[in-house]
Amino acid sequence: MRPVLLMKVFVTRRIPPEGRAALAQAADCEVEQWDSDEPIPVKELARGVAGAHGLLCLLSDRVDKRILDAAARPWPFWACASCEGGPSSAPSSSGMSSPSRSHGSQPVEGSASPCEAVVTVLRKGANLKVISTLSVGVDHLALDEIKKRGIRVGYTPDVLTDATAELAVSLLLTTCRRLPEAIEEVKNGGWTSWKPLWLCGYGLTQSTVGIVGLGRIGQAIARRLKPFGVQRFLYTGRQPRPEEAAEFQAEFVSTPELAAQSDFIVVACSLTPATKGLCNKDFFQKMKETAVFVNISRGDVVNQDDLYQALASGQIAAAGLDVTTPEPLPTNHPLLTLKNCVILPHIGSATHRTRNTMSMLAANNLLAGLRGEPMPSELML
Ligand code: NDP
Ligand code: DGY
Repeated sequence: MRPVLLMKVFVTRRIPPEGRAALAQAADCEVEQWDSDEPIPVKELARGVAGAHGLLCLLSDRVDKRILDAAARPWPFWACASCEGGPSSAPSSSGMSSPSRSHGSQPVEGSASPCEAVVTVLRKGANLKVISTLSVGVDHLALDEIKKRGIRVGYTPDVLTDATAELAVSLLLTTCRRLPEAIEEVKNGGWTSWKPLWLCGYGLTQSTVGIVGLGRIGQAIARRLKPFGVQRFLYTGRQPRPEEAAEFQAEFVSTPELAAQSDFIVVACSLTPATKGLCNKDFFQKMKETAVFVNISRGDVVNQDDLYQALASGQIAAAGLDVTTPEPLPTNHPLLTLKNCVILPHIGSATHRTRNTMSMLAANNLLAGLRGEPMPSELML
């Protein structure tokens, strides 16, 4: 009897159908999923990842040393060649779905096999080979620890760039033209007449736009804003990117210069130790009183207390945030009391097509990594 060599894959959330199908069809994997739309508790993640060869996670899952240590715990199970395709035995823990091809698997070593034809007990120990995240951002992953352990990382760049840039532009226009306030006035009877001085905002024509991080998404945002009549693009980053900047005649400037000269600032950088808290009191104090600030990167790039002060005191005109710290932002957070602050629940990549494509890419990254093949999108550590 031929042994069935199954690799354990742990998925930390319900994912879109295409990615789910790709994993379910992988004959060499046993897939266990946290069967919920809500985040997996850390304890359950530690339990689920134990002995896994592959982990498909989300940006809300902090994969730190503790989780990596938990992954190194054994996952003993029986694999049975003769009952392939037979019914699954679901793990007992609540919230877990049945493994997609987990016939005959048992989470208890040494217990009797569900079938007479037990052929082998598969791997134990430090198994985790691949972490595939359903995101382009990787700030939730302890990359140094991951690298030390020789684990490969897959992520989802490019496929979400257009959707995120589209959302960034929507958020910018919503914020600078004060759409939430205007909609509210229609509903609450505040709309008494067409009034020359009422609900005026700021427009993009002849403006200067500053982009913090002219990466994939930063460029896609600039590309979409250009036709609105933007006069000048500025950008910051670790170093100039003359080739990418040429398309927008964008000028590389220091962060303080960008803050001081821009009418609109869009933050599109990755979250790193260098960008954490980058937009703070100093930054906001340099901005024009008429300037609009937009962040679609990560909440931690912004010091939210300083942003609140800047908005409440009229130091800057308005802010649009697709990302906050924490997420979700508590409903009693001071920023939510401000009319000149528009907050969205991290929906940059949230189109049906994009999320499906992301899930497919994340699944394919995972499977390729597990099989020792080149990943479609591997983060080089
Ligand atoms: P890229 O890697 O293409 O771009 C990252 C950018 O960050 C680069 O331009 C880089 O500039 C810049 N950057 C890095 N360090 C610094 C620094 N110290 N100061 C200023 N800029 C810096 O990634 P993407 O464009 O694909 O994605 C960017 C980020 O957007 C993701 O990491 C994620 O956090 C966020 N995101 C948010 C989404 C949402 O739903 N709101 C959706 C998708 C992504 P350089 O290399 O020149 O230094
Ligand atoms: C990412 O991919 O990093 C976003 O925040 C969600 O798509």
